[in-house]
Amino acid sequence: MTEQFPIEANEVHEVEPVETGRRAFLGVAAGVAGLCYVGALAYPIYRYLDSPSEMALGAAAVTEVTLKDAQKLPTGSVLMFKFGSSPAMLIHHTDGRWISLTAVCTHLGCTVQYEPDADRIHCACHGGVYNPYTGANVSGPPPKPLKAYKVTVGAADVTVSRA
Ligand code: FES
Repeated sequence: MTEQFPIEANEVHEVEPVETGRRAFLGVAAGVAGLCYVGALAYPIYRYLDSPSEMALGAAAVTEVTLKDAQKLPTGSVLMFKFGSSPAMLIHHTDGRWISLTAVCTHLGCTVQYEPDADRIHCACHGGVYNPYTGANVSGPPPKPLKAYKVTVGAADVTVSRA
């Protein structure tokens, strides 16, 4: 059995809707704050995990590098530079030839070094050796040759491009 209370014509019952509205607002505010918090935590992780693919895309997008004043490089010496995001080397051999090769070892990715006295390119990580004229893998664990670039020597610079 329910009791009935007389309701006057101008009586307004706003207590219940106001309470529901406040709860809904607080729920939405908490949800938005939670999403912001998760986003603040997740974005740096996303950037960290995505950076290698971005770097790879950036490196692939680079097709040519101009090295200002590199035409002055003395014979028997090397200039290390970045081709995109990867280390590379420009070698001016004693016979006058210009050779440019990637400096990333094909074994496990260490940076290789040109050794003019031994006339070789050497990887100190596991003893890999490459031919300094062709980039061919000569001895040690490297499974493939170093990638060669095309070299164009100008009056004021040297341009290295994908072959
Ligand atoms: S990384 Fe160069 S020889 Fe292993």
